[in-house]
Amino acid sequence: MKEIKIAQVAGDGIGPEVTEQCMRVLDAAGEIYGFKARRTVYPFSTQYWLDHGQKDEMIFPEESFREVRGHDAVYLGAIGDPRAPVGKIEYGIIAKLRFELDLYINLRPIKLYDERLCPLKGKKPEDVDMVIIRENTEGAYAGMFGFAHKGQKLEVATQTMVYTREGVERAIRFAFDKARERGKRKTVTLIDKANAIRAHDIWTRTFAEVGREYPDIKQDHAYVDAAGMWMIKNPEWFDVAVTTNLFGDILTDLGAMIQGGMGIAASANLHPGRVSLFEPIHGSAPKYAGKNVACPVAAILAGSMLLDYCGQKEASRTIEGAVKDLLISGRIKGVGTGDHKTTEVGDMVVAEVRSIAARV
Ligand code: IPM
Ligand code: MG
Repeated sequence: MKEIKIAQVAGDGIGPEVTEQCMRVLDAAGEIYGFKARRTVYPFSTQYWLDHGQKDEMIFPEESFREVRGHDAVYLGAIGDPRAPVGKIEYGIIAKLRFELDLYINLRPIKLYDERLCPLKGKKPEDVDMVIIRENTEGAYAGMFGFAHKGQKLEVATQTMVYTREGVERAIRFAFDKARERGKRKTVTLIDKANAIRAHDIWTRTFAEVGREYPDIKQDHAYVDAAGMWMIKNPEWFDVAVTTNLFGDILTDLGAMIQGGMGIAASANLHPGRVSLFEPIHGSAPKYAGKNVACPVAAILAGSMLLDYCGQKEASRTIEGAVKDLLISGRIKGVGTGDHKTTEVGDMVVAEVRSIAARV
């Protein structure tokens, strides 16, 4: 039987609960489609760090990190806990995975499954169906920051946005390939702020150059402020958008809301051909932790993206189809409505996956 080796880091807050539901769904799909989603469970989280003397080297121990490289995929629940300094565990786990595995693409689909989930008046599933390609290893996240005269009146703090030709080019190229593969509006929109952040000229030039290799794909452009406005006003204009790390972070939370909320939006952090990372885009939501109320749909859809990446295309489509059926038929009453327990949604998706598979 085909095995998919998954390094599982459930993380903080609601991470473990939503991860568990995703894994149940992967197991059910595996039984049907003949693969085994074999997990190595890593306990790394804020709690783990607290339990191990708050040592930096215990956030994601190097030996475990080396092991992770030997998996097909990494699955992450969520990271973030107010008991640790802001950003410390996020950098130690999420950013470490993204940077050290060189996961240069953060692929974030924004897809509305049912009109009732969209807060925008009159927008239908065909209007909200785009993919945001977020450059994932550079920009403001590159980690080049510093302070001078810390704590003094004249303190200075800086953080440098870093763009390399290679980093920009591989993100843009991925976006053009994705637009071709989707075959929808065959458009890539570059989202930047080149009118104020002059270094974004490297995006402008690289986009034009790479775009010439794709004469079948239209090139579009929006400054990030306008892009935020257009995503609300005319989401149907977007097919594939490519943008910097920070702008992608911001726009995909906005995108999550127009597809039904944080409980539904999933993502893939990719280095095509290598071990890649799958996660819901939501955070750890500490106030809902342990209450069995978090919506696991985003986590389950991240699992569907993982299967697609690992070659189980049919299983992946079935899981997405199951979620879609449950939302359209109103059996899942909505995302984040408080109508369902986390485990109950997991039960429904598992049952629906089985029923779809039985029908074909
Ligand atoms: C995301 C998150 C992370 C990010 C945080 C938790 C560091 O918001 O994946 O979108 O900013 O990349
Ligand atoms: Mg974010």
